[in-house]
Amino acid sequence: MKVFVIGSGGREHAIVWKLRQSSRVTQIFCAPGNGGICDEAECVSVDVKNLDGLVQAASRIQPDLTVVGPEVPLALGVVDEFCRRGLRIFGPTAAAARLESSKIFAKEFMQRNRIPTAHFAICTTPDEIKDALPHFGTPIVVKADGLAAGKGVVIAHSREEASAVANQMLAGKMLGEAGTRVVLEQYLEGEELSFLVVSDGERVVPLVAAQDHKRVGDNDTGPNTGGMGAYSTPKIVDPQMRDWLLTHVARPVVNAMHEEGTPFTGILYCGLMMTAKGPMVLEFNCRFGDPETQPILMRLESDLLGAFMASAEGRISEGDFHWSNDSTVCVVLASRGYPNTPETGKPISGIADAEKIEGVKVFHAGTRKENGTYFTSGGRVLGVTACGSDLKTAVLRVYEAVSKIHFDGMHYRKDIASRGLK
Ligand code: AMP
Ligand code: GLY
Repeated sequence: MKVFVIGSGGREHAIVWKLRQSSRVTQIFCAPGNGGICDEAECVSVDVKNLDGLVQAASRIQPDLTVVGPEVPLALGVVDEFCRRGLRIFGPTAAAARLESSKIFAKEFMQRNRIPTAHFAICTTPDEIKDALPHFGTPIVVKADGLAAGKGVVIAHSREEASAVANQMLAGKMLGEAGTRVVLEQYLEGEELSFLVVSDGERVVPLVAAQDHKRVGDNDTGPNTGGMGAYSTPKIVDPQMRDWLLTHVARPVVNAMHEEGTPFTGILYCGLMMTAKGPMVLEFNCRFGDPETQPILMRLESDLLGAFMASAEGRISEGDFHWSNDSTVCVVLASRGYPNTPETGKPISGIADAEKIEGVKVFHAGTRKENGTYFTSGGRVLGVTACGSDLKTAVLRVYEAVSKIHFDGMHYRKDIASRGLK
């Protein structure tokens, strides 16, 4: 079978890597891919926002299945477009992807369906901001309604700061169109958890859970990023909590989306804060997380193609997934300047040496390959990922692998998975 993967990050490299292990996969294409993906799949130079280009590429390739990595093409309606042309595709329609593409849609959806989430107010004018702020304690979380590539959330430490940020967003000065409506939200404390499920529109099957590390610096300091590392272990969520999250979050979302006439097919990523009062939803994503996908798929023992096909064809079941009891860790190596203005164009050395270490795979994100050498081409460059029979082994392996890799300005967090080791 031929598979077409859309995207160019570490997440898509992990998907390609896992699909290659399927005996039923004969050829993999990826648009646009990156330096590492191009070693393992045939890369097609089409931007993920170019729906016409993606449709044309798919018409040429004639894939048996297309898998979409990032949120932007999903929000633009790539699934609707492919379905109209009879091309089988894994992912939600634009209407279902609103769970991610509009924070206001997601908050109102959670409110009407009684899904646990933080208290909030929706503001579209400066007066609404002024009226809403006294109802919040500090800190206050200010969120842009639209997609903002991880930059749409600001934690304000005073009402004055929240007011300034929210007004700047409304005026279109911070995030353009994405910020012209904002959500003010109660600040929640606790551990974050990424709980991903796959749905075929009706049924829901959980994947193993993971924890992301969003801040750029050790001990959760500095600005938010797309994610600086993630880990997954059998212990990260116990069976009781898993059942609770299925019963109170994932299944109600899928059932309500179905009832509301916009069934959700694909990966539903529930971003949770595990507070003292119980889990609360921070956000939904309508796709695999990056970097969570790297440690999650490293624990998958069964055929990923089979699971994608079952979901796309409306017949997903628990039996489609077998997981190892290993622990897995991904450490993101980023460029100097990330997350604001990353430097690019630096040669990268040591990837092959890193991959000689047992249980290690280096997933590429912002890389390109020229005359046999990899160069940096983005903020998040590589996702060094390792597995081990326990978390300590996986962590030792991953940081040994990281020590083999070098590029000018490389930085990374040294405390990935440290909470899991406590
Ligand atoms: P979101 O895109 O909504 O997940 O927000 C990005 C990150 O901001 C989350 O992963 C959290 O680290 C943080 N965040 C979002 N909402 C809240 C909240 N209500 N309380 C505390 N932190 C939050
Ligand atoms: N790692 C968080 C995300 O994929 O949105």
